[in-house]
Amino acid sequence: MDLLMDHLSKITQLCDIDGIPEDLKRHLGAASEIVHEMIQRPRGDHLDQASRNRKERDSLFNQVYKMLTQLTRPKRILCLPHHSKGNLQDLLKHLAEDGEIVSCVSGSEQELPSKESSSGKKIQTQFGKTEDILKRFAASGEQYDMVFIDATEENPINYYNLIMNSNMLKMDGVICVQNVPANETRSREHINDEMGLRSEGMTDVINADTRVKQVVLPVEGVTILKRSPVSHVADTMGAVMDDVFRGLNGRSILERLCLDGKVAYITGGGQGIGRAFAHALGEAGAKVAVVDMALEKAEAVANELHLKGIQSVAMAADISKEEDVKRVMDTIVANWGKIDIACNNAGINMNSASEDTTMEEWDKTFSVNLRGLFMCCQAAGRIMLSQGYGKIINTASMASLIVPHPQKQLAYNTSKAGVVKLTQTLGTEWIDRGVRVNCISPGIVDTPLIHSEALKPLVTRWLADIPAGRLAQVTDLQAAVVYLASEASDYMTGHNLVIEGGQSLW
Ligand SMILES: NC(=O)c1ccc[n+]([C@@H]2O[C@H](COP(=O)([O-])OP(=O)(O)OC[C@H]3O[C@@H](n4cnc5c(N)ncnc54)[C@H](O)[C@@H]3O)[C@@H](O)[C@H]2O)c1
Repeated sequence: MDLLMDHLSKITQLCDIDGIPEDLKRHLGAASEIVHEMIQRPRGDHLDQASRNRKERDSLFNQVYKMLTQLTRPKRILCLPHHSKGNLQDLLKHLAEDGEIVSCVSGSEQELPSKESSSGKKIQTQFGKTEDILKRFAASGEQYDMVFIDATEENPINYYNLIMNSNMLKMDGVICVQNVPANETRSREHINDEMGLRSEGMTDVINADTRVKQVVLPVEGVTILKRSPVSHVADTMGAVMDDVFRGLNGRSILERLCLDGKVAYITGGGQGIGRAFAHALGEAGAKVAVVDMALEKAEAVANELHLKGIQSVAMAADISKEEDVKRVMDTIVANWGKIDIACNNAGINMNSASEDTTMEEWDKTFSVNLRGLFMCCQAAGRIMLSQGYGKIINTASMASLIVPHPQKQLAYNTSKAGVVKLTQTLGTEWIDRGVRVNCISPGIVDTPLIHSEALKPLVTRWLADIPAGRLAQVTDLQAAVVYLASEASDYMTGHNLVIEGGQSLW
């Protein structure tokens, strides 16, 4: 601001000659006045803070920290120094489930209870010299998602160095330093007290550290630090500078699993496994078209996604009908311009002993499970081949590998074995044009369907056959669909990913 004012004054002097348009002089005068006013305004740096009421500042810090915690949902927070009990409880509310706040207090254990807990999340209080506590944490390999440091504390630079040098900050972790004077507000008179000197020193250390990127908030000298991308770190001695170290295309493995910007559809998305897949793909960043024969179910799931901030649309379609399949593909491309992820999941199972299986049952099973699924693969595949990229994920079943018993389901088992062979064939036929085709084979999934009295004896029998000792939950399958939909699995094709708690191995 001072520099700007200086320039403006010089321009004003230079303009004080005949022939300069009046309008230009007027605008120049107005601009100079605004800058002058801004220079006069209090700046909220640490000198001002010193004179302010501590409670007021604490409450401001607390608001900022609450917001940050809400945004980043950390699991473990380290507080140096100790924050007030009320502030910690506030932060606790926004912590991930099973999260923990570790608060360092210089003093004896009698002052505060060493542990408090609320809804599984807890506050752990550590007593003693902060530096000693940090050294102990460093030795035992503790890591945190968020660390709060007060730059006016006794040894903030030592705390900072201990945290950074011993990797106490997680890879995506954040350090919040409070009371750091921003560079442009620094002046000699600000550092004439001991606290000021400490916080000035802290600014210098942060500025010189290439391992971190910083954002200075215009709030009471709060500075947010994140690790710099590894390519910006000055000292990478001893590291092999390849895709493994830097991450493929500079992206970490979690970033490579991310589906931001991708367009997905899921058939049979109105309930059960399809609903869980729709949530998983949406949570990972994709836009999701929820396709189901029952429109109201598809709408309910699309609404759930919408509530979570996921772009979604519900579509009614019977995937055994060619015209429905075509309409689904055309509508998605018309709305969202492409299809990156095709989840062909809709399937039916009509149990009957083989000697009693009617041709109608056989045809119906195959028309959805195999013919319908092929139509979806073909329609989505054509779009993906023209894009040069796509991921097709079919839902097969453990029944493609073993003969689940004692229930009788010949048509179903055979159709699902067909899904696997179809997946293998397409997977090899299209891989060289960028389209990967894989399938997921769940074991027996715990759905309301099998909770009936009639099926209870079967469940007992199944459980005896499952090494994991339990049925699958739909949530057990979610990571697999995200992996197969993401670029992290680009080299995988024609694969049958079996998730059955070991059942097919016994
Ligand atoms: N549940 C299990 O134990 C299990 C195990 C292995 C594989 N699978 C397979 O997983 C897939 C999903 O199973 P689920 O348990 O979630 O089933 P589900 O019956 O709970 O849900 C299937 C959904 O698909 C829809 N649907 C059925 N036919 C359709 C059609 N022709 N067109 C469009 N939508 C249709 C239904 O309306 C329903 O919403 C199926 O392919 C199934 O064979 C299930």
